Amino acid sequence: MLILGIETSCDETAAAVVENGKDILSDVISSQIAVHMPYGGVVPELASRKHVEMILPVIDEALNKADISADRLDAIAVTQGPGLVGALLVGLCTAKAMAFALDKPLIAVNHLEGHMHAAFLGRETIAKPFVCLVVSGGHTALYRVDTDGQVKFLGTTRDDAAGEAFDKVAKLLNLGYPGGVVIDKLAANGNPTTFQFPKAYLEKDSLDFSFSGIKTAVANFVRRFGPPANASEGASYRLEDVAASFQEAVVDVLVNKTILAAKVTGVDEIAVVGGVSANQRLRRRFEEEAGYLGLTLHLPALRYCTDNAVMIAAAGYTVWKRTGFVQDIMDLDAVSRWFY
Ligand code: KG4
Ligand code: ZN
Repeated sequence: MLILGIETSCDETAAAVVENGKDILSDVISSQIAVHMPYGGVVPELASRKHVEMILPVIDEALNKADISADRLDAIAVTQGPGLVGALLVGLCTAKAMAFALDKPLIAVNHLEGHMHAAFLGRETIAKPFVCLVVSGGHTALYRVDTDGQVKFLGTTRDDAAGEAFDKVAKLLNLGYPGGVVIDKLAANGNPTTFQFPKAYLEKDSLDFSFSGIKTAVANFVRRFGPPANASEGASYRLEDVAASFQEAVVDVLVNKTILAAKVTGVDEIAVVGGVSANQRLRRRFEEEAGYLGLTLHLPALRYCTDNAVMIAAAGYTVWKRTGFVQDIMDLDAVSRWFY
């Protein structure tokens, strides 16, 4: 089953060809980082325009790299949501037009289910139920996923997503965009115990998250100790230490709540996916804790942590097996908020 995956939910235009949900024949991503960098965050209208410009060249490249013509595809899988509605519509309309013109079936994929598949690429089946932490710029949520792909929601953020906190804190510290990667690098040379930023565990045994408090704490810190400066300019703190202390507080909460979720749902496998799962400290902490507790840990390869179309094509295969193809292609609409 040859599936073309298309992803345009935020700021990456991506297409990929994947066979039977596991063999990656091509994987093309056109990043919009340079477009949004001057604004310090994703500008939805600019994202849509860039997707319009890039979607056809990206799909052509994916087909060329896979060395197949479009008529050999068995189906097209596309991200239906959640995401920026204008951005989603570009991928969705392209997929619908291709499906109509080529007379191919369409599969509508939830972006979060896509992220979940990123930790299992290369495998046709998921052997055991697992707890999944989806942690990205738009989402921070915990799920229990069964082997047939059925998902039970366990908890989510009540305000900011963890990736959003990374991006906003990077902006407060004048570190540029996208913030997560910069903080990750800086923190590697910092001391995580220098500053105590708040960790929101909420009510006892809660599997919900909250990251707006820590963002405010960093804003207050900058107000109190002055804007970031170089050591040569007489800085009163090391940026590396602020980055490491902030990161440690976020990672602590993410790790502890995921382990708690595994305990209460009685599973011994966990997966951590989404852009923030690329974070080096987060990966190391999960590896340590999982090893200590005898849990099996699934982490995506770094390339598949952030948005890509391979995960959409792979998830498309599962969705097709579970629910089949979209019946009324022309009625299919983008879903900006998709509670999952
Ligand atoms: O999954 P993704 O590409 O898009 C969404 O679905 O939101 O995630 C992007 C998010 C951004 O907030 C970015 O700062 C964060 O993932 N991110 C990281 C790292 N790499 C990307 N956060 C922490 N450490 C990283 N290495
Ligand atoms: Zn994503």
